[in-house]
Amino acid sequence: MNWNSKLVESFGWNGEIKNKESKAKIAKLIADKVKDGDVIGFGSGSTSYMAILEIAKKIKNENLDVKAIPTSHEIDILCIKLGIPTISFNDGKPDWGFDGADEIDPQNSLIKGRGGAMFREKLIMAAAEKTYILADKSKLVNSLGEKFPVPVETVPAALASVESALIKLGATDIVLRLAAHKDGPVITENSNFILDVKFNKVAPTLEKDIKLIPGVLESGLFMGFNVEIVTD
Ligand code: A5P
Repeated sequence: MNWNSKLVESFGWNGEIKNKESKAKIAKLIADKVKDGDVIGFGSGSTSYMAILEIAKKIKNENLDVKAIPTSHEIDILCIKLGIPTISFNDGKPDWGFDGADEIDPQNSLIKGRGGAMFREKLIMAAAEKTYILADKSKLVNSLGEKFPVPVETVPAALASVESALIKLGATDIVLRLAAHKDGPVITENSNFILDVKFNKVAPTLEKDIKLIPGVLESGLFMGFNVEIVTD
């Protein structure tokens, strides 16, 4: 990167990182798995952020040839800052990936998307042979939906019809996610809205049922993927 960009150089995590000590330990565990020649799906969120800082050190110290496929704008900028070469998803299939999660149940089903990046996160998880889920103990739950709503990325033109379809699926509370530094809703990487949806029970068919709603791009339910949980 030869732009001499202060914006890129000063780019960091925007806000507090909860359970930072645990995340720092987990970051070292995942950096140990990085090998020369790997094409890796880089997840989003604060845990992935800390992992990427550690991976960057390893790449530099061992002069590794590693390529990242980022799952969000913020991870893309972070890779530019750290000098980690990136490729697009269309350029190459990830050998493996890592990512964070908001909730993990005993079957390793996940809720993701607090950071709004679940579309690319799922795209990459579906393509990778294996994804390591980096999770401090606060992420482990008995059943999905205990602490977090299910994020649903929705095309703006279908806001009301998606709301109505989600209620038919048993949604008990639906919130349009609002932006912190812009008036109105959060806009995703795909120019869509995010609905944060509470259900009394997350049924095993819910991920597929939500996906079938016209106007929904993706949800933050991740069920049945080949994941391994990495915790401290
Ligand atoms: C990003 O959209 C999310 O899926 C994150 O991976 C998830 O919210 C975990 O984030 P933290 O690592 O910040 O807890």
